[in-house]
Amino acid sequence: MELTCPTGIQLSAYIRSTGNSVPTPCGGRGNCGKCKVKVIEGDLKISTMDRIQLSEEELALGIRLACQAMPEQTVKIKI
Ligand code: FES
Repeated sequence: MELTCPTGIQLSAYIRSTGNSVPTPCGGRGNCGKCKVKVIEGDLKISTMDRIQLSEEELALGIRLACQAMPEQTVKIKI
């Protein structure tokens, strides 16, 4: 499923607000790596926990951890 996410809200919170969800077994602390989403339009900064949990290949493909993401521009993601 694709979602267009606004700025100023943490991404996993926004996903929940739409009635959807991503798995968050670590409670959003950034250490389970389960809340992956893929950016398909726009840019989402790579967070410190993204660098720890995700491979270089995943980062290059636009994979990010939703619990660590706060969009600075509107982004379209796939969950
Ligand atoms: S919820 Fe665990 S890394 Fe995001």
